[in-house]
This record gives sequence, C-alpha cells and structure tokens, in this order.
Amino acid sequence: MSSLPNPHAPTKESLDNGRKYFQINCEVCHGRAGKGDGTAVQYGMPAPSLLTDITKNRTDGYIYGMIRNGRGLMPTYDRIEDMDRWDVVNYIRALQGKIPGVVADTSPAELRGTAYGFFNLLGGIAMLAASVIAGGLWDIAGPRGTFLAGAGFAVIALAGLLALRGKITGKGAG
Ligand code: HEC
Repeated sequence: MSSLPNPHAPTKESLDNGRKYFQINCEVCHGRAGKGDGTAVQYGMPAPSLLTDITKNRTDGYIYGMIRNGRGLMPTYDRIEDMDRWDVVNYIRALQGKIPGVVADTSPAELRGTAYGFFNLLGGIAMLAASVIAGGLWDIAGPRGTFLAGAGFAVIALAGLLALRGKITGKGAG
C-alpha cells in the first residue's frame, strides 16, 4: 500500500476534514500536534510522535495503510472512509510542516473531540473482545454453537431488561 498515490490535493477543505478526523480518532494517542503526547499516553499507551524524520519520510500510501490496518497496539481505523483517510494523511503532512505555506491549526478543539476519541477507542476494544469471543466459540462450538450463544446472550439481555422493567413498574405501583 506504500506506493499508492495520494489522490487528494492538500486543499483547505481536505485539511479541515483531515483535522476533524485526526482530532476525533488519533489525538487521544498521538496528541493534538502529533507529538506522541496524547491523553492515552499518560495511561501507558506508547504512541510515537508523528513528527520524526522516520514518519516524515514515509510515503502517503504508508500512512494511509497504517490508518487502514493499524499495527501492534494501534487499532485499525478502517471505519474512516477511503477519501477521508487521505485527508487525514494530508493533515499529518501539515502537522509535519511538509505542506508549503500551511501551518496546521492545533488550537484546542472542543473537549468533545477527546471524549469521542476515548469512546471510539473503547468501542473498538469492545468490538475486538466480542469478535475474539465469537471467534473462540466458533472454533469450539462451530457456527451453530456461536449462533446459539449469540441468541443466549440476547435472551439474557432481554430477561435483564424485563426484570428491570418489572422493578420500575413495581416501584411506580407501590
Ligand atoms: C490507541 C492509540 C492510538 C491511536 C488512537 C492511533 N494510533 Fe497511530 N500508533 C499507535 C501506536 C502504539 C503506534 C506504533 C505501532 C507499532 O508498534 O508499530 C502507532 C503508529 C502510527 C504510525 C506509524 C508511524 C511510523 O512512521 O511508523 C502512524 C502513521 C500512525 N500511528 C497514525 C495514526 C493515525 C492517522 C491515527 C488516527 C486515525 C492513529 N495513528 C491513531 C497508537 C495509536
């Protein structure tokens, strides 16, 4: 993927869009300016700076592939659509000072960005756990077992909901 050409010119629209996605998804680890000092780093996530010569010398396609596939502790961000993903690449280039005449605006976005970042991250981890559990079940119990387990979980959730509902109505009546 490293040799994929970037189809997006670093226009203002592209950079604005990239900034949005970067601050929502990446800032939590890599930091607002890409220095590798995001909030999650304080909690032990070893996210590298994106401003080093190593990353500056990566191709656009490499960074694009990194977002798509993740690596090691970095989760995949393939839910960022193709075209938005190239905008994130452009934005990283702006952070790196590689786009002539453009200084990336790293002024604080609303805290909302970071909150979303955490939410997305937790969502990703939960999905990962769910698919690992499902994958394990698949190995042990086969498709039928996995399906039944899924149905079982749904029934348990429903039972919980009904129990709760009973409690609430019970309270209302009493
Ligand atoms: C959960 C924390 C986390 C998040 C969120 C995250 N990264 Fe990373 N990123 C990492 C870690 C950890 C590495 C080092 C991966 C490794 O061990 O190879 C990394 C590596 C990278 C690299 C490779 C740098 C190089 O030159 O080798 C790029 C590029 C990158 N991240 C971009 C992004 C972008 C863009 C986003 C948002 C779409 C993002 N990251 C979101 C943790 C994160």
